[in-house]
Amino acid sequence: MINIAIDGPAGAGKSSLSKLLAKELSYIYVDTGALYRAVGLKFSRFGFDTSLQGDIDTILEDTMLDIRFIDGAQRVFLDGVDVSDEIRTPEASMMASAVSAKPVVREFLLGMQRRLAEKNNVVMDGRDIGTVILPNAQVKIFLTADVKVRAERRYKELIEKGQTVSFEEVLEDMKVRDYNDSNRPIAPLKQADDAVLADTTNLTFEESLELLIKIAREGISK
Ligand code: DC
Repeated sequence: MINIAIDGPAGAGKSSLSKLLAKELSYIYVDTGALYRAVGLKFSRFGFDTSLQGDIDTILEDTMLDIRFIDGAQRVFLDGVDVSDEIRTPEASMMASAVSAKPVVREFLLGMQRRLAEKNNVVMDGRDIGTVILPNAQVKIFLTADVKVRAERRYKELIEKGQTVSFEEVLEDMKVRDYNDSNRPIAPLKQADDAVLADTTNLTFEESLELLIKIAREGISK
């Protein structure tokens, strides 16, 4: 199977670009952030905040996560219910970042991600795909952009979805998440030694997509 790992900070355009790259190559697109978001949602429902004080192990043991592909699009099911839309709020983002620092959560999700990549040609995006989950991926891309540009893109997305947020709030959240994701002791966000760096700060969406397709095709044909 061909595995393409795409890692990078929040708001770099990973999911929209990875989705289109997967379509171009006729691979499955796996958004691993959605798994951390769904776990975060479960803990929110149990009354946890981002400090995650309490017995998370027992709740996790009683958690059923499932990824299904409906009309080619990934849907995430938490305990049998499709939560794909509910996990897209700024609160869910912060909870996802918090739970993702817990080794027990990462361990819980590891096998699931690897199994998907063993059975399918995948474009998988996340933070530790090239470093931890799929160290043998044929193509590894580290996708990034300046934090202000990323916050601007995310802000527009949220406004278009009808959410009430300020740009400052989005920028602040993004800086906090960048810090948390890059500084946690386990599987921190970092570029794998053999990953190709794609910085999209000065690129349009179309240019970024072209760049990813080029890197992927070169990597696959090696
Ligand atoms: O990509 P995203 O914004 O949906 O991810 C949500 C959070 O999950 C993010 O703050 C970091 C975490 N995450 C992770 O630690 N490892 C991954 N492979 C994917 C996401």
